[in-house]
Amino acid sequence: MTAISFNGIPVPADGEVVKVANGKATTPNKPVVAYINGDGIGPEISVATRRVIDAAVTRAYGDTRQIKWYEIVAGEEGTRRFNDLLPADTLAAIRHFNVAIKGPLSTPTGGDQRSINVGLRQKLDLNQCIRPFRHFTGVPTDVKRPEKVNIVLFRENVEDVYAGIEFKMGSEGAKKLRACLAELGVTIREDTGIGIKIMSKYNTERIIRAAIQYALDNKLPSVTIVHKGNIQKYTEGAFCEWGYELAAAEFGDKTITEKALKANNWVMPEGKVLVIKDCIADAMLAEVVSRPERHPVVVTMNLNGDYLSDLIAACVGGLGIAPGANIGDDYAIFEATHGTAADIAGQNLANPCSLLLSAVQMLEFFGWTEASKAVVAAIETTIAGNTMTGDMAKLVPGSTKVSTSAFADALIANLPAKV
Ligand code: NAI
Repeated sequence: MTAISFNGIPVPADGEVVKVANGKATTPNKPVVAYINGDGIGPEISVATRRVIDAAVTRAYGDTRQIKWYEIVAGEEGTRRFNDLLPADTLAAIRHFNVAIKGPLSTPTGGDQRSINVGLRQKLDLNQCIRPFRHFTGVPTDVKRPEKVNIVLFRENVEDVYAGIEFKMGSEGAKKLRACLAELGVTIREDTGIGIKIMSKYNTERIIRAAIQYALDNKLPSVTIVHKGNIQKYTEGAFCEWGYELAAAEFGDKTITEKALKANNWVMPEGKVLVIKDCIADAMLAEVVSRPERHPVVVTMNLNGDYLSDLIAACVGGLGIAPGANIGDDYAIFEATHGTAADIAGQNLANPCSLLLSAVQMLEFFGWTEASKAVVAAIETTIAGNTMTGDMAKLVPGSTKVSTSAFADALIANLPAKV
């Protein structure tokens, strides 16, 4: 690799670029992974994550494989060093190395500052947000049967109301839009802020295709399309319709709709392996709590996906343990799903599991499954042995409360000897 740098930081001399095409990785033995520590608790959980991942990779592959970590900056660190929340070089580095992992970044509420997290997803066209949720024995939750929750959520990531098409009350844009709507026979009050919800067939098809392919690859029995199509016909409703059409057109030999299956007395026809069904968004919230086992793979639009993620995460023990991957055709960013937790920042108290399990998704994306399984096994052993960070320990009588760094030590000690 030629000597280059981003933000003045030289890239690792002996690292190689992970190639990403059509959302799939081709991974060399010494891949460079760009990392953003993040704000608040970000640096603490990032250090813990890198330590555990390095130990698992060494345990699985000896010195034949190694991640070459490369720091890029954004958020408060970006402002401090470059007076820029998202320096151009940070984006250039992700575009160069194709894969990044990030801690949480803070977004001020109100004002004009848009979320860097949302900005990154849009600039890099990371259209899929993939969040696998499962319960680890020993993690405290208020749900009676958390072990029934085993859901992989595919959330469309760049459209819907998140596309950022918004006009402030009284702005030129709002005035023009009101006039335009008036021409279409729609009257809205003058003191109105306007946001536009969009859903394209192109991006619907990309996320539905990814969800179906995932279910087929992992031999899961069904995909549930979640939508609010009874009310918003041409966005949410179209998402559902286009989803069914794509399933029939591209996966028709393997899939069957739930309606057709019912008409066939619930007998799966020869050759069919996957049921495609849909559920209205509000009903889905109840399903998550009462019958989660019916929905191993869920695919939905951006805002529904946002609400659903927090609910499903709560069922398995909160955001501290739920990971996330943002994957597009050309790039992938893995990230903690919780925020910056300013109340406990800098105190070595944070739970690193969300970021660590996001790194596990990254290892799976690389095809390094021996290492990913080792980390999951270490988390299972450690938590089942009642060693946990304070957020969980305070809810588990008799548990041993440890710091972020001591929890990482325990995970490393609990990596299975043979993977
Ligand atoms: P938060 O997730 O930072 O905190 C909510 C509560 O959960 C706090 O009591 C916190 O201490 C606790 N908590 C969160 N993560 C934890 C962990 N790993 N270990 C132990 N306890 C943990 O949510 P909040 O307060 O709504 O957001 C704070 C900031 O984070 C905001 O600026 C928000 O925009 C940003 N944020 C960034 C995200 C990202 O970068 N992807 C996602 C969500 C929020």
